[in-house]
Amino acid sequence: MKFPSLVVNFKAYEQSIGDSAVELAKKISNAGKGVVLAVQDVDVFRVSKAVENPVFAQHVDPDPEGAFTGSIQVRAVKEAGAKGTLINHSEHRLDLETIEKTVHAAKEHGLESLVCAQDEELAAQIAHFKPTAIAVEPPELIGSGISVSKAKPEVVTNTVALVKQVDPDMHVLCGAGISSQEDARRAVELGAQGVLVASAVVKSSDPKAKVLDLLKGLNG
Ligand code: G3P
Repeated sequence: MKFPSLVVNFKAYEQSIGDSAVELAKKISNAGKGVVLAVQDVDVFRVSKAVENPVFAQHVDPDPEGAFTGSIQVRAVKEAGAKGTLINHSEHRLDLETIEKTVHAAKEHGLESLVCAQDEELAAQIAHFKPTAIAVEPPELIGSGISVSKAKPEVVTNTVALVKQVDPDMHVLCGAGISSQEDARRAVELGAQGVLVASAVVKSSDPKAKVLDLLKGLNG
């Protein structure tokens, strides 16, 4: 991952799964090849074949290899083309022990890990596991169109402060409701090194323009 980073979480919208995921990825890629695309695990292979952008899975399991039917294996995701994975998104929460195991499993296989936390305290706990980066996302603002950087700036500043106490080199992103260039700029001013965005890009009538707008906010 390069910082400041823009991570687009495709989630599971009709505009962002299967063939539509590839179409969306191409539009985003035309706006920026460094934008991270967090896609449905089953779309990792096709999206990573279609664009040069780093592709992340939305979730992986830390199970060892063997008799684990339905397990999403880190090595399988890596070999499908993923460069990293989200872990513990608010819409797919894990307990702390599983988060730690998953970060280690990702590291073991050379995958980057972007771990989500719903608040600053959890973010600080996660920093001890040394993922690639942590993204703080207040759940109540997710999908609201009201950005964390405007509505709850203290969540961003407190998370940056607490996480840096644990690990001064840890990268902190923020997400939830980020929709505009101004939201992204504000996030950087608050100390975040990137933003995690879903609906504003996925549901946009012009995803390329929306991504360009957000990149301007991040890069100045
Ligand atoms: O992972 C990003 C996310 O949860 C924020 O969603 O739709 O508020 O950008 P959204």
